[in-house]
Amino acid sequence: MTNTAVTATTIHPAPAEWWRDAVIYQVYPRSFADADGDGMGDLAGITSRLDHLAELGVDALWLSPFYRSPQADGGYDVADYRDVDPLFGTLADFDALLERAHALGLRVVIDLVPNHTSDQHVWFQAALAAGPGSPERARYMFRDGKANGEEPPNNWGSVFGGPAWTRVDKHPDAACLGATDTQWYLHMFDSSQPDLEWTNPEVRAEMVDVLRFWLDKGVDGFRVDVAHGMVKREGLPDWDGNTSMVDGSTGEAANVTALTPMFDQPGVHEIYREWNTVLAEYDGDRALCAEAWVEPLSALARYVRPDEMQQAFNFAYLTTPWDAAALRDVVTTSLDAYDEVGAPTTWVLSNHDVVRHASRLAIPGGGRPNGIRAHEPQPDAVLGLRRARAATLQMLALPGSAYLYQGEELGLPEHTTLDDSLRQDPAWFRTGHTEAGRDGCRVPMPWEGDAPGLGFGPSASTWLPQPDSYRELAADRQRGVAGSTYELYRTALAERRRLGLGAGDLAWVDAYAHDPAVVAFRNGDLLVMTNLGVAPVEVPAGYEVVVASGPVTDGVPTDTTVWALPENA
Ligand code: GLC
Repeated sequence: MTNTAVTATTIHPAPAEWWRDAVIYQVYPRSFADADGDGMGDLAGITSRLDHLAELGVDALWLSPFYRSPQADGGYDVADYRDVDPLFGTLADFDALLERAHALGLRVVIDLVPNHTSDQHVWFQAALAAGPGSPERARYMFRDGKANGEEPPNNWGSVFGGPAWTRVDKHPDAACLGATDTQWYLHMFDSSQPDLEWTNPEVRAEMVDVLRFWLDKGVDGFRVDVAHGMVKREGLPDWDGNTSMVDGSTGEAANVTALTPMFDQPGVHEIYREWNTVLAEYDGDRALCAEAWVEPLSALARYVRPDEMQQAFNFAYLTTPWDAAALRDVVTTSLDAYDEVGAPTTWVLSNHDVVRHASRLAIPGGGRPNGIRAHEPQPDAVLGLRRARAATLQMLALPGSAYLYQGEELGLPEHTTLDDSLRQDPAWFRTGHTEAGRDGCRVPMPWEGDAPGLGFGPSASTWLPQPDSYRELAADRQRGVAGSTYELYRTALAERRRLGLGAGDLAWVDAYAHDPAVVAFRNGDLLVMTNLGVAPVEVPAGYEVVVASGPVTDGVPTDTTVWALPENA
């Protein structure tokens, strides 16, 4: 690997409430870097590539789960919350990662998965064995079925497709654990991810203990998985609406949560109030970020009230189509909603659950499918990358915090021609092979264009194959190359920091306030213009372009964002 020295100037002293304007880079451990050559990313691999993040200029990283897990859902099925899966290394590897990150001035946020455990967790194994009515079963959502146990307790569907209930005697471990009863257990995701019973004080106490375990180690915060899902409406009433979080094609966040009995129940907020007090006992401004697919934004903002979490991903922004009026609207609504509770807006365009924005913004016919398969209409790679760069440059000028997903700084597209036989996402299996699922955004990173496996690790092996297009996009082919996506991100992050954009204020430019093709705003002295139309747009006289997402010759061309400062400023 290229081991560019990281100098003291890249180490940023962390201000108080660092999370208000931080740029946080998501690392998906399976796919970031592999140190031991088994084709699967690991913690030592991540540590070896941390210089890349420091050079890029982000403030923190968020690690998706690396805990002990059968990996039925890429680690979001946790069997032991206090240990590292051997696939990813050891607790000592985690300590080394944390120490190196902190030495580089990078904060570390880890993923907490409190809604469900793996079915291989000791609690669930004990629950199967102990039988109905036992304290072991009371940690999960076991219920008697209807029609003498023949039918599930209600009609809920799993987010991944299929029913959200499995009958005990149908569980693969039932026989060897002697579980012969016909109770059912709830799993809002895969049948190997049983939902915990959050009205049980033992569950609450255990998760606080898990928080403390990692806080004591020195982590700077937690991204809270399915933060809107832990409490269900009493009585578990039937629900005929959509439960999927990664929706098919509407272009809107799927959960209109106002009515859903499984999401966004008032009781979840009590949990975060308690966690808030736990974090406050620790020094260094530790933070919680909600993964909550909740609409409208005013309901989402409740998760970031002063005594709850610090951040909540703005998925309304992520799901907004490439349309000037829609973007202005979501930005205004977001800033208003989060301002109302005194929280920063937390912008995001890509993560490990959605089609990468370099592909999503060029899907023929629009929409937001859950993955793309080889025989389906393919995104235009050139158009997608142009729009992705423009979208990112716009996002990084917005006041608040922002999350980046590994590889977007290289302009990586979704892998849209992955062989179906290689798919691993449970959504692919649970939808009867109708939805491709999320594997296409989880492909191992290309670090070196000429190396086997594109430098993912010391062997040629990668747990998913990389598409041909990743070679040219490898990090070493972009470092120091003017105009590359990597250099665009680096420049934008440096300017964002220099100009204090994350802590700034947004003012729409009157002349474009209703323009069908142009989004234009000011953040302090900076003028930001995105052209979503066809005709080039003039930068006002007296302004000098300081960063541009693409070539600017005669005005701002189509699908391009520029940052401009008053001349002589
Ligand atoms: C969250 C995660 C996703 C996971 C699901 C179940 O949405 O981001 O990857 O499959 O929760 O834990």
